[in-house]
Amino acid sequence: MTSAPNTQLQTEASLDSEKAPWWRQAAVYQVYPRSFADADGDGLGDIPGIASKADYLAELGIDAVWLSPFYPSELADGGYDVADYRNVDPRLGTLADFDALVAALHARGIRVVVDIVPNHTSDRHVWFEEALASAPGSAARERYIFREGTGPDGALPPTDWESMFGGSAWERVPDGQWYLHHFAVEQPDLNWDNQEVRADFVRTLRFWSDRGVDGFRIDVAHMLTKDLTEPLPSKAELEAMPRDGRHPLIDRDDVHDVYAEWRRVFNEYDPPRTAVAEAWVDSSRVPLYASAESLGQAFNFELLEADFEAGQFQRIVRDNLALAKLSGSSTTWVLSNHDVVRHPTRYGLPHPERDADGRPARKHGNEWLLSGGMQPVLDRVGGLRRARAATLFVLGLPGSAYLYQGEELGLHEVAEIPDALRQDPTFFRSPGVDKGRDGCRVPLPWSEGGRSFGFGDGGAHLPQPSWFALHAVDVEDGRPDSTLTMYRRALALRHELQTDEELDWIDTGRADVLRFARPNGWQVVTNFGTEPFELDRADVLLASDEAPLGIVPGETTVWLAPN
Ligand code: NOJ
Repeated sequence: MTSAPNTQLQTEASLDSEKAPWWRQAAVYQVYPRSFADADGDGLGDIPGIASKADYLAELGIDAVWLSPFYPSELADGGYDVADYRNVDPRLGTLADFDALVAALHARGIRVVVDIVPNHTSDRHVWFEEALASAPGSAARERYIFREGTGPDGALPPTDWESMFGGSAWERVPDGQWYLHHFAVEQPDLNWDNQEVRADFVRTLRFWSDRGVDGFRIDVAHMLTKDLTEPLPSKAELEAMPRDGRHPLIDRDDVHDVYAEWRRVFNEYDPPRTAVAEAWVDSSRVPLYASAESLGQAFNFELLEADFEAGQFQRIVRDNLALAKLSGSSTTWVLSNHDVVRHPTRYGLPHPERDADGRPARKHGNEWLLSGGMQPVLDRVGGLRRARAATLFVLGLPGSAYLYQGEELGLHEVAEIPDALRQDPTFFRSPGVDKGRDGCRVPLPWSEGGRSFGFGDGGAHLPQPSWFALHAVDVEDGRPDSTLTMYRRALALRHELQTDEELDWIDTGRADVLRFARPNGWQVVTNFGTEPFELDRADVLLASDEAPLGIVPGETTVWLAPN
């Protein structure tokens, strides 16, 4: 891998000289730290491991790295159960290692975004341990949501609410009270009416900002504040309530009071710290999170649920560019992350059945995962071809692109993980129903051979399939047709071509071919169909697969030069 000192100087300088805020059209690369690279050989990826790949990240051409949680955690939910918000898990390194990582990335012009998990802590957080050791009604319990049970002796949960991971959303503690957890049992929900909770998160945001972190990804940003006035509604009553900002649990207007305070903190820094909301809310309410008074940007997850189909892609682009205008933010594009089946696999499986709202009736790919990757039959080659076309389409759009580690290698989801080795709580809490998210969290293959394909010297905490060898970085590196080469070329070109956050659609005369132009004339043409599309130009800069002169083959994207 190259790391030309000149490039470093240039990029360092460009950190200061950009006119538009850096995040508006950034390519942000998500690192799932425990599965990226393992420097100490304990089978778990770590912070020095990430630092050892700083040149790889620079060569990839991304603008920022988003680190999924690396904090001390019992790993009940892959690190999203945080035991200490202002520290590094000792298995992953130290704060000094973290500082060194930030320095290594900054020296290469790469910003650093960290994950903040404010809806819940780990049950190993000192606050929760204190709450359990304290009496009902105590100040320590007030930081969480404890209630008396119902039924004889309070032996039944306060309500029939279900956790997102399956089972009751309430767990009983030895003195008989129950606490609320919208996710795993080990993730007690915090009480955001509590001023101490609010103050502590401000302290955390300052702690990381002072260490040079450039921005934050806010986990479950739509669920922090709750109206738990008694009597609590039933699950059916909750479901019938409109999500208009007054729902007791979801997407409440008053969550923006929290973010307004955070925004004041972000703006104390130069440049202001950024934030992106993970908010699963009605699209009409996304601008509230993305506004400059709130978090500033919000994920748009619609492509995670879309088929590789021109009509759906175009509708999603139109809607989300319009939404971004409403908030004044830029929009975001996501094809893969640590919670969903990787996009080459989704596009290699039959389209999912859809419910009355047009959303996949079940998690796309789950049936295939449940069968151990046997049924339905995965079209590996076609899925990757479509994924590469979708990626180049997305990288040409205005706004930020969030990429997930391993997608640059064209990795498919791993189905062949024995149940005994699975880690994800969604699997354990829903026996036989949801196979969980481990298949996209398998440690990356860095080399064709060696123990754990170069991930580390000590094996991998989730088993890697033999076909990972085909996608190893040292196999794809330098190969003109590899997915890694395509990502590197696309990200480099994207920097050169980037222009105002606008696009114009160009009629193609075909419902399955989308074509758009950016303000400087950069054009993107995606053929979602299988029939070749004839181009009126031959000046192709980049193609997601081999493209004969003047032709966009089926399931292919090409970029055309600005005129
Ligand atoms: C969203 C995260 O992306 C997911 O991985 C996690 O399980 C939940 N939030 C709970 O923190």
